Amino acid sequence: MAAIETRALSKVYKTYKKPPGLWGSVRGLLHRQYEETRAADGVTFSIEEGELVGFLGPNGAGKTTVLKILSGLLHPTSGEASVLGHVPWERPDALKRQFSLLMGQKNALWWDLPARESLELNRAIYGIPHREFKTLSGELTELLGVSDKLDVMVRELSLGERMKMELIAALLHSPKVLFLDEPTIGLDVSSAKKVRDFLREYNATRRVVTMLTSHYMQDIEELCKRVIIIDRGQIFFDGPLASITDRFATHKIVHLQFNRPPTTDPTAFGEILERDTHHLRLKVLRHKIPETCLALLSTGEPTDLNVQSMPIEEVIRQLFLEKQHASE
Ligand SMILES: Nc1ncnc2c1ncn2[C@@H]1O[C@H](COP(=O)(O)OP(=O)(O)OP(=O)(O)O)[C@@H](O)[C@H]1O
Ligand SMILES: [Mg+2]
Repeated sequence: MAAIETRALSKVYKTYKKPPGLWGSVRGLLHRQYEETRAADGVTFSIEEGELVGFLGPNGAGKTTVLKILSGLLHPTSGEASVLGHVPWERPDALKRQFSLLMGQKNALWWDLPARESLELNRAIYGIPHREFKTLSGELTELLGVSDKLDVMVRELSLGERMKMELIAALLHSPKVLFLDEPTIGLDVSSAKKVRDFLREYNATRRVVTMLTSHYMQDIEELCKRVIIIDRGQIFFDGPLASITDRFATHKIVHLQFNRPPTTDPTAFGEILERDTHHLRLKVLRHKIPETCLALLSTGEPTDLNVQSMPIEEVIRQLFLEKQHASE
């Protein structure tokens, strides 16, 4: 059996909508008007043991909703799901100790305690033996580079330090399934990297099934072989990340910086992704790279030029565009 399975999972949120003004309020009392949001709309996927899957999609696509259902925080409106063989919203004790949900936007730690004591409370809640707790928290704080922060009050930790402590708290009971909802949100480049490196290592050595959402494509690129992309509650891609990046490997991005722009018309070489007074980003067919670079550098006053493969953001934007065209 797969570690995580969902079938036709749907969630409709009903929010009460008050018509404007006094009469609206009065009318609203008589005829309640509801607005319905289909946050998840027939979501079906299955994830095997040991997988680390990126769960992607634009704001409001339904990612957090699905993770909350899988963590038992929400009941679905319809559909089925199982996590390690359990129905998450029935909240069986056997499951509680086997998964963790970390939400980058929310705090699970106690703010008015030093980090050490806050972690200790988590130890007590999960009934983790003292010795095990000591070894594991020592190991995790070391790996994440926050051993010297254990006596600092949680509220005084920097965002990055706090996120690392949150991660440690989420892992103390050695869960088999990990739901990470934007674990690197707001972190600086080096903290985000540390968290990524840690997660990669952790997944590789412990084979913990992980679903990860992030708006930072570097997280996805570095960590996930497989991605599930959701839009308006529906899955529209599920497969290897490489299969979508390969499709766009025909193109590269040329980034030119200049004091004065080239006089040649850049649209002759490819699609303009960005342009302002000092730089230009072009999507160019791979075999046209040399002639494009020569042409762009031969006029104007160039200061720098580099060529990159298509960033995943761009690949996903293209996928969305294709999807839009297909539905028109
Ligand atoms: N408690 C709620 N009541 C009503 N509507 C909600 C509720 N929670 C979420 N929604 C709506 O459901 C949709 C999906 O929200 P969700 O938080 O799952 O998206 P998301 O993919 O996690 O987005 P983001 O990338 O911004 O975190 C959105 O339209 C959102 O406004
Ligand atoms: Mg979300």
